[in-house]
Amino acid sequence: MRIGILTGGGDCPGLNAVIRAVVRKGEQHYGDDFVGFRDGWKGPIEEYTMPLDVERCRGILPRGGTILGSSRTNPYKVDGGPEKVAATLERLGVEALVAIGGEDTLGVAARLHAEHGVPVLGVPKTIDNDLGGTEVTFGFHTAVQIAVDAIDRLHTTAESHDRVLVCEVMGRHAGWIAVYAGIAGGAAQVLVPERPIDLDAVCESLMARHNKGRYASIVVVAEGATFKEGSTVTTTQELDEFGHVRLGGIGDALAKEIRSRTGFDTRVTVLGHIQRGGTPTAYDRVLATRFGIAAIDAVHEGAFGMMVALQADEIVTVSIAAATSGLKTVDPALVEVAEVFVG
Ligand code: F6P
Repeated sequence: MRIGILTGGGDCPGLNAVIRAVVRKGEQHYGDDFVGFRDGWKGPIEEYTMPLDVERCRGILPRGGTILGSSRTNPYKVDGGPEKVAATLERLGVEALVAIGGEDTLGVAARLHAEHGVPVLGVPKTIDNDLGGTEVTFGFHTAVQIAVDAIDRLHTTAESHDRVLVCEVMGRHAGWIAVYAGIAGGAAQVLVPERPIDLDAVCESLMARHNKGRYASIVVVAEGATFKEGSTVTTTQELDEFGHVRLGGIGDALAKEIRSRTGFDTRVTVLGHIQRGGTPTAYDRVLATRFGIAAIDAVHEGAFGMMVALQADEIVTVSIAAATSGLKTVDPALVEVAEVFVG
């Protein structure tokens, strides 16, 4: 078969491991040949391609990012975009398209399959871990490890200076990175988008903690967290093609409030894209490889409109439409685990 591959949305450690696995099993086991589409959906819209084979995948397993490039291009925001995608596949003789992405990239995949009969197979990716249908997305584990390493370092400097250190992590709609990194990093407060921030409670708890003789506190906050009275904090109103505003700023706003309400010396660290860069952890390399192998098998079973997923440590396939119909937010029981260590 002739198979296209694209990576869309924010990049994520493990994308190259998926590409490598799809190509390796496809070429060696099924005799497939591949077309690499560049920069997400922009590739099939503009017929922007690159050659892709086992040789070109050598050495990419530990490399972060994506050799295909990525973008937040939305075919439904481009004049005739969906038709252009279908026409490119037809012209290039591409019989199946493996789309590796999160809710936006795969949301497009579901529509293209349903409305234009595009033979697409989804692979779930996002460091935010908020995609439905799968227990985990690759990239999440790496992002958490990066955040925990940072928090471990913040502890020692916070202790030296008797400071509160606010650490802003990614997590647009869901606080998975915040809650995992907060638990693993021993944070005094973990603030997530699922629970609006009660500033009075946060400051009272920090003061009670410091009155007990603790001399430093780490507060982990997800970028999408909001104050109880207020909306999402951003430094820009710029929207991407999927209508998402660029987040960032809650860490600063929170530190300002903590400083003025408690008088504690409070500083902020925004981890930002460091969480998305660099080499994937061994866990993510294995998960991404398993997803890639399952994806090429699913293509040969004709499971179009489906997405590979992890459920009870088994790789299964679920409908992309169902997986993208709702976000997977943090289990309240996990937030309660973090709350045991508050104060
Ligand atoms: O991939 C999801 C995500 O990491 C969000 O947590 C974050 O808001 C967004 O990407 C930022 O992406 P970019 O700066 O690349 O648009």
